[in-house]
Amino acid sequence: MNYSHDIIALMEALKTSPDNTSIRHLLAQKLLQDGHIEAAEEHLHAIIQSDRNHLAAKVLLAEAFFKREKFSAIIVMAEELKEQDYLPFELKVWYAKALTKEGNLRDAQEMYAEILKDDKNFKDESLDSALRIKEYDILDQLEAEDSVFLEEADVNFSDVGGLDHVKKEIQLKIIKPLENPEIYKQYGKKIGGGILLYGPPGCGKTFIAKATAGEIKAKFINVSISDILDMYIGQSERNLAEVFSIARENKPCVVFFDEVDALGASRHSMINSAGKNIINQFLAELDGISSQNDGLLIVGATNTPWALDTAFRRPGRFDRIIFVPPPDVDARKNIFELALKDKPTVDIDFKKLAAHSEKYSGADINAVVDMAIEDKLEEALLSGETVPIATKDLLKAIKKHKPTTVDWFNVAKNYALYANQSGLYDDILKYMK
Ligand SMILES: Nc1ncnc2c1ncn2[C@@H]1O[C@H](COP(=O)(O)OP(=O)(O)OP(=O)(O)O)[C@@H](O)[C@H]1O
Ligand SMILES: [Mg+2]
Repeated sequence: MNYSHDIIALMEALKTSPDNTSIRHLLAQKLLQDGHIEAAEEHLHAIIQSDRNHLAAKVLLAEAFFKREKFSAIIVMAEELKEQDYLPFELKVWYAKALTKEGNLRDAQEMYAEILKDDKNFKDESLDSALRIKEYDILDQLEAEDSVFLEEADVNFSDVGGLDHVKKEIQLKIIKPLENPEIYKQYGKKIGGGILLYGPPGCGKTFIAKATAGEIKAKFINVSISDILDMYIGQSERNLAEVFSIARENKPCVVFFDEVDALGASRHSMINSAGKNIINQFLAELDGISSQNDGLLIVGATNTPWALDTAFRRPGRFDRIIFVPPPDVDARKNIFELALKDKPTVDIDFKKLAAHSEKYSGADINAVVDMAIEDKLEEALLSGETVPIATKDLLKAIKKHKPTTVDWFNVAKNYALYANQSGLYDDILKYMK
């Protein structure tokens, strides 16, 4: 064998201190570099034998395995470390490469996504070309993960209890312009832009967005921003473009962006350009819609409007911000009626239920009804007879379930009192009075 000077020197050194792991590691590295792979492997095995947690040696060993095409050995080693939650970045890369070589593209892609999450700027030609997610793959992914899906809306405004002012705003701001573009033009009124719904959880933001689509028989796309951001960080921008292009192919279409704050927050926390890019792209897509007025209705929702960058609120973007409060007494009555429709009931006093469920969200009311039904079901199973649900059962369930809107108002109140630029949160204060 012709070893380089370096290697010979290291071998000498190792002879005098055979327990010196750093020397052995360095030697293995040099051997590997110079193509003495088997010799390198031997030293690496020796290191790992004396120190089972020597990750650097394992990374090198993976490289040696890869050179000798022992892909399954890499996979076994990586999987073991993964199980212990201890997979170093370099080994993730070898792991992804080994999986690719073994033809397990699905797991390889998953690992690759993780690699990109760790390092957005990571590039590797062989991985890129084997795993680059084709456009249609992204679509499949999106659909599979339910973060985007095109739906026919099966509800309309009549299914939404109360919220009359919200329905009216939606009518004026997005439905009417779609139906009468000429009239708006005559008055020099700009069409386009989106509305942003905000408020406590479970009070019907998603529900009314979907009902808007049903109201005008438009398609409905529900996009969860945090899913889009999570999916393939490096490719988020393309995913977003994808969403808008599906929407354009399915006009008229209500595009609903849930958790818009996930974008707003990222502008502050993601200092890197990837985060900024996706926001800029999002804003550009919104701007494009206002100039084209092309039958896309944009509705956004957030529980934390104060986390949103003001750039989102400029004209033509989310320029109408609407508070979706917890249902009032009539709406609660309505929601109880809807929830109990087609259920076995007897003499329900809906007024009383509504009166006793102040601060309860629509989701809370559904939960209450579910609880009451479960109780009855248990009774029915024991007695073998259907026992109808009565008012007292529901009142009992109300007592057991605390309203979830209270915590939200405790936080929102502070913003409304101390950070209420241009009266943005006046509605919160008005509601709390
Ligand atoms: N005004 C309402 N009329 C009828 N049902 C309602 C109303 N508000 C809420 N609901 C019911 O409560 C459920 C939860 O509402 P929804 O998911 O729209 O809340 P949300 O405001 O989007 O909540 P989150 O902030 O958690 O996303 C709905 O599926 C619907 O069944
Ligand atoms: Mg929602």
